[in-house]
Parts: sequence; C-alpha cells; structure tokens
Amino acid sequence: MLSTWKRWRYASIDGGAFASKALTILKRTVTLCTAHAPSFILSYMSGFISVILTFSLCAILYNYDLCVKPAVPPETFNNAVNHKSSNYMTTQMKTTAAPTVTKQISLHYHVAYPLNYHFILDEPDKCNQWDPFLVLMVPVAPHQLEARNTIRSTWGAESSVQGKAVLTLFFVGLTGGSKAQQQLEEESRQHRDLVQSNFVDSYFNLTIKTMVIMDWLATRCPQASYAMKADSDIYLNLENLMNLLLAPNTPRENYMTGHLMIKQLVVRDKTSKWYVSEELYPKREYPTYVQGAGYVFSNDLPEKIVEISKEVMAFNIEDAYVGACLKRLGFAPSSPPDPSQFRLSMQQYKQKDFLSVISVIVGSPNQILRVWKDVKRPT
Ligand SMILES: *[C@@H]1O[C@H](CO)[C@@H](O)[C@H](O)[C@H]1NC(C)=O
Repeated sequence: MLSTWKRWRYASIDGGAFASKALTILKRTVTLCTAHAPSFILSYMSGFISVILTFSLCAILYNYDLCVKPAVPPETFNNAVNHKSSNYMTTQMKTTAAPTVTKQISLHYHVAYPLNYHFILDEPDKCNQWDPFLVLMVPVAPHQLEARNTIRSTWGAESSVQGKAVLTLFFVGLTGGSKAQQQLEEESRQHRDLVQSNFVDSYFNLTIKTMVIMDWLATRCPQASYAMKADSDIYLNLENLMNLLLAPNTPRENYMTGHLMIKQLVVRDKTSKWYVSEELYPKREYPTYVQGAGYVFSNDLPEKIVEISKEVMAFNIEDAYVGACLKRLGFAPSSPPDPSQFRLSMQQYKQKDFLSVISVIVGSPNQILRVWKDVKRPT
C-alpha cells in the first residue's frame, strides 16, 4: 500500500512535469508565431496565451489541493505499525493544513472509530422496551457459548434489582465461518441478547469491540442511567453495585469507576499479549484508567468517548485506551468508595467476601456457577 505521503509526492512530481511540458509547448508556439505573423496578430496571440497559462496554472493548483485532501489514516493497528510515516503524516496534516481541508479529513484515527463498522445482529428496540437503569455490556468471543449461558443463568438473569431494570447484552465480532454464524443467529433468535459487529473478533481487536459497545449505548440506549463493561469471567454482585449507583454521592455524569490502574507502564516486550509498540503509544506509562474486567460509568460518557476517539490514536489495550479518551475529555476515573469491591482475583475463596464485593475476576464458567450457588445459599 502506498502511504498518503508517497501518493502526495508522486502527484506533485507529476504536476510539475505537466507544467514544464506545457511551458515548452507554449514557448514553441510563441516562437513559431513571432516568425510568421504580423504584429496585430502577435498581440492578440499573447493575450490568448496568458489566458491559457492562467487556466493551466489553476488546473495544477486545483489538482494539488485534491491530492492533499484524502489523508487516509492506517487501516488496522498492524498497518499503523508498518507505516510509521503515514501516522506522522496524519498528525502533521491536522496541525498544518488549512481549516477547510481539516474539516474534510475529520476521521484522523479511524481504526477503532465505531461508525466504520456496522451491526450484523442488533437489538435496536431493546432499551425502548426495557427502559433499563443499568446496562451490562459483556464482550465475549463468538464461540464462548458456555460463558454466555453461565451468565444468562447467574448475574445476567437479574432483570430487576432494587426495583431498577437491568439489561444484559453480549457483544461479538465476526465468526470464523458460515456454520458458526448460523448457530449464532439461532442463539440470537432464542435469547435476543446478542449484538454482532463486522470486525475480526480477536484479543488484539478488543479496543474495537469496546468502542462498538460505546457506540451501541450512545445510539441504542441513551435513556439508561449507567452502564457497566463486564467481562464474561467475572462474578458480579448486582445488589452491591446498585447500592453504589443509588448512593446520593455517586455522580450522574462524567463518572467512571472500578479498579483503578495508576501509572501503569506500557509493555514493550514483543512476546507479551499486552505489547504495544511505540508507534501506537509513545509515552512510557498510561494515564489512570479502570481495569477492564469490570468498570461502571454514567451513560452520558459513551457518546463523548465515541466522539473524542477520532482524535485519540487507537492501541490494543482497550481499558487503557478508554482511559486515554477520558484524559483527552479532561477528567479521570474515580476511586470507588470501597476500592476492595472491585477485585482482580478471588485468592482464598470465602463466601463472606463475595457478599461484599461488586466484581471479582473468577475465571471459568464453572467457577462462576460455583461461587454463584454458594453466595445465594442461605447463611
Ligand atoms: C482487527 O479488525 C480489523 C477489522 O475487521 C481487521 O482488518 C484486522 O485484521 C483485525 N486484527 C486482528 C489482529 O485481528
């Protein structure tokens, strides 16, 4: 793929060659005319020639302008790594180009910009019917049917908590094949809780999935008060979450909370699954963000995050990317009143701990089921 920078250069060289050819032809015409024509024709001709010159100059300038406009940002994260110069080009364009041009190339970083994708499976009326106070958004791989069923039979089954409607939806990308797609469509008809978008579903692409989740909330569910991004390997205590959300001190806007990640270093070890290249994220550490397994936010944020994401170059660590978007919006996530309510592991399992947490990373569907039954058992 030719980078925008190269394309632009080739175009301007072509323009130059065209101009010098045109000049040579004009010169020859002028010489021929001066040799054979009377003076009144000459003055007429020179007027005509200057008109032609002006027109060709305009054509060249117009062409040049067109070549500059389509500054196409990298198609994927991978391309962004391979075509370092095209990224820098995009940044440069933003700061140096004339205002009219800037408007036409507003999608500077479109990799994770959710409107570049579309929904294959959708539940566009779900929020109108349900009018949820809280929406649980669960990113999951298409093949993880067992994980979805476990959630459907545990915390995803709680449709009303303390009198407030709660909605749980699963988010998937593309399946590997048509058989898997058919099964997914069947599952969607049965449960009406799947949303599928047309990006390649992979660990690397979780940032895209998160941004699609934000887009769905912004466009299909603006009436909800709060949303939570909840991974499929967590145990969720909705009573405790609802207590937090209904507490008088909990903000209703610009609010995000969970397990805070502060001054996290960017992983530069290429063998790590959290590796991020310096091209994608040049700074040494991430801004404060909330760990991705389970974070809660006021539902005014999705629209703001989608909008600002055009200006924040995407990288493959979804939770840190949301942190970068928040920072760009001018605020940081808040620490929960009791930080021990958002846990990254269950360590020594004790039933009483699970009665006081909001979310814990538990692991397999079986473990979620085990914890669920144990917590629900009368004490
Ligand atoms: C991420 O998704 C994009 C869009 O579908 C795709 O082109 C790209 O190959 C995916 N990358 C990975 C590593 O899965």
